[in-house]
Amino acid sequence: MIQKMSDQIQKKNPNESPSLDADKPASEMPLSEMRRDYHRGALRRENLPNCPFTFFRQWFEEARSANIAEPNAMILSTADASGFVLSRAVLLKAYDERGFVFFTNYHSRKAEHIAQNPNVSLLFPWFDLERQVIICGKAEKISTAESIAYFMSRPFGSRIGAWVSQQSKVISTRALLETKFHELVQKFANGEVPKPDWWGGYRVCPTTIEFWQGGPNRIHDRFEYRKTPTGWEIVRLQP
Ligand SMILES: Cc1cc2nc3c(=O)[nH]c(=O)nc-3n(C[C@H](O)[C@H](O)[C@H](O)COP(=O)(O)O)c2cc1C
Repeated sequence: MIQKMSDQIQKKNPNESPSLDADKPASEMPLSEMRRDYHRGALRRENLPNCPFTFFRQWFEEARSANIAEPNAMILSTADASGFVLSRAVLLKAYDERGFVFFTNYHSRKAEHIAQNPNVSLLFPWFDLERQVIICGKAEKISTAESIAYFMSRPFGSRIGAWVSQQSKVISTRALLETKFHELVQKFANGEVPKPDWWGGYRVCPTTIEFWQGGPNRIHDRFEYRKTPTGWEIVRLQP
């Protein structure tokens, strides 16, 4: 039904949404005209699995296969106790039915926010696929053993980098960081770099997961999985 309605609107207004890749290069297009019409796919309730993680896996693998830049990059939004909100990119490093894991500095600004308010949001911006996934839930620290296991899998330079940076703190010059990096390379020259106590993972345990697929004429498909005491409820949201 939605598909048919979209087709009709499409026929009436074939030029309603000029495509970015249509006539002019994006650099010459007025900002107000920059938009694209979405047509790559559709989401239908009958095609959705009961489990959002099954569906996430399918979409994540499609994003990976599509060769988009950093398909595991996600926007993490946090809010402190006063409601001040901040977003930044982090990398998804693991996921399963418990949640979505990223690693960071436990003294960073995001960690301060999470300590004050564990409610966070994650957003995967898979624009090339005309998709986004939005996850809301509580962030909790993963076990030290899990953090150590991942830390030890990182390249030598990245492990040193975790020691170098007091993430989110002000520093006067990059040179101080580089000096510290070289000192630590000497200190850990045997290659055994332990995990700093202040570094580790968070798991975002979701209460809602929304799958968004762009549709023609701004009639997008949005389905939100909502956690219930017995499983997951699926609702369609208006675009
Ligand atoms: C693509 C991309 C991936 C990133 N991945 C991480 C990450 O996994 N962990 C992390 O702590 N910072 C990551 N960063 C840096 C963060 O965006 C951010 O600058 C940093 O974590 C400090 O954030 P905060 O001051 O709000 O705590 C990434 C940045 C980009 C652009």
